[in-house]
Amino acid sequence: MDLTEPSTRISVIGAGHVGLVTGACLAQAGHIVTMVENDSARLAGLRQSPPNVPIYEPGLQQLVEHLCLEAPERFRFTDSIREVVADSEAAFICVGTPQGETGEANLFYVERVATEIAEALVASGREHFVVIEKSTVPVRTGEAVRRTMERVLRRHGKDELPFEVVSNPEFLAEGTALRDFMSPDRIVVGVESTSGAEMMRRIYEPIIKSNADGKSEPEILITDVQSAELIKHASNSFLALRISFINAVANICERAGADIREVARGMGLDPRIGPHFLKAGVGFGGYCFPKDVAAFYHISKELGYPFELLKNVLEINEGQRILVIDKLRSALWNLKGKTIAIWGLAFKPNTEDMRGAPALDIIHLLQQEGALIVAYDPAVTNVIAEAVELKDSALAAAEGADAIVLVTEWKEFAELSDESLKSIATAMAYPVFIDGRNLLEPERMRNLGFEYHGIGVRRNT
Ligand code: UDX
Repeated sequence: MDLTEPSTRISVIGAGHVGLVTGACLAQAGHIVTMVENDSARLAGLRQSPPNVPIYEPGLQQLVEHLCLEAPERFRFTDSIREVVADSEAAFICVGTPQGETGEANLFYVERVATEIAEALVASGREHFVVIEKSTVPVRTGEAVRRTMERVLRRHGKDELPFEVVSNPEFLAEGTALRDFMSPDRIVVGVESTSGAEMMRRIYEPIIKSNADGKSEPEILITDVQSAELIKHASNSFLALRISFINAVANICERAGADIREVARGMGLDPRIGPHFLKAGVGFGGYCFPKDVAAFYHISKELGYPFELLKNVLEINEGQRILVIDKLRSALWNLKGKTIAIWGLAFKPNTEDMRGAPALDIIHLLQQEGALIVAYDPAVTNVIAEAVELKDSALAAAEGADAIVLVTEWKEFAELSDESLKSIATAMAYPVFIDGRNLLEPERMRNLGFEYHGIGVRRNT
């Protein structure tokens, strides 16, 4: 990283997943970053030595530790928005935008932060401050942030104080967030003026130039605030749409005697379609996709164009969880009193994050049927739902079970030897195997003694 680049004094508000990754990466890139966190326990943990990063993200603990130790002048923590705004040129808003009751994004925290920033601007008299929305927000939130801040300034007779609102959505996937930030495919920036664009270029310059991963320079797309906001919701919804699309095709494959793995491969070979996000299975989960698709649908209705396709994306996704129960029912008949082993609880491999995890939905549906649940996950070690018995290995979970449902495609499951799989099949009461991610080879599994069912996988392979 070229630290001779002029650095910018930046505040990052909210030390959650997005905020910590953003703040740490920007400090690593040479900027002077102050993180603001209002949860006192979290703040105390981050301030201790070595700091305690309360988030599972590969490399993040090490990076934060390194910065706190080696570059404390460039990376520190506080609880005061007022203090940091007085001392910085721009603030990234990285607070949560949880899902409300009807799918809408709850923007309470964004509004509160916008108000506090405006109050800090009044107190410090700082001009041309740049407020950057990083949290995922519905289109036109930038406008609402501006209105909120203007109201505060007006109340204090400071209407003339110029400031800028920028939208700079994050595209960080859990597990690869540091790489996604330091070596992005694209940087999207929605601005109100050329000076906002200049500030964002200055912030991202060292990252663009560092060319981490040896990739070609990422495109920095400068657009208006509304378009940038929409790019985020539209991108996540489109990826979710691809997953629901392929899952619907998988369901047709099952009825038509085709195989989704080959169909997806054939589709993905068309460069206009491409191979990514075409893996059929129990559907998408996580903190982002379900919430973002619902929020996008909600805002589309508010704008007078109900985007019904998105509703369908969510319905197909729910259907994939039910599909697992149907498959178990047709293999085991009644599920009441049967023991089902769940392999994989996290919403995707290489994380312990259970938010929006398909496993939670499947466990809930199975418990409604009266099934008993045992589970194993290489990373999740805390009890995750009532009456779920956690085991410490794939084999231990399978012992005496009537069926295994593989929900998360951990490498550990893919790498199980023939020998291990054989002993697992023998240890089960009945060797039904529902492969919710099409991770294992059907023929191999059948030869090893399982009654194997994939998702959209041809029966006679
Ligand atoms: C996602 C986006 O990828 C990221 O750009 C955004 O900023 C946040 O949301 P993340 O939720 O971490 O990231 O996970 P991702 O790897 O995208 O997977 C989401 C879900 O889709 C997982 O449950 C995964 O299992 C599922 N999935 C993904 C499929 O079912 N099939 C696929 O082909 C791909």
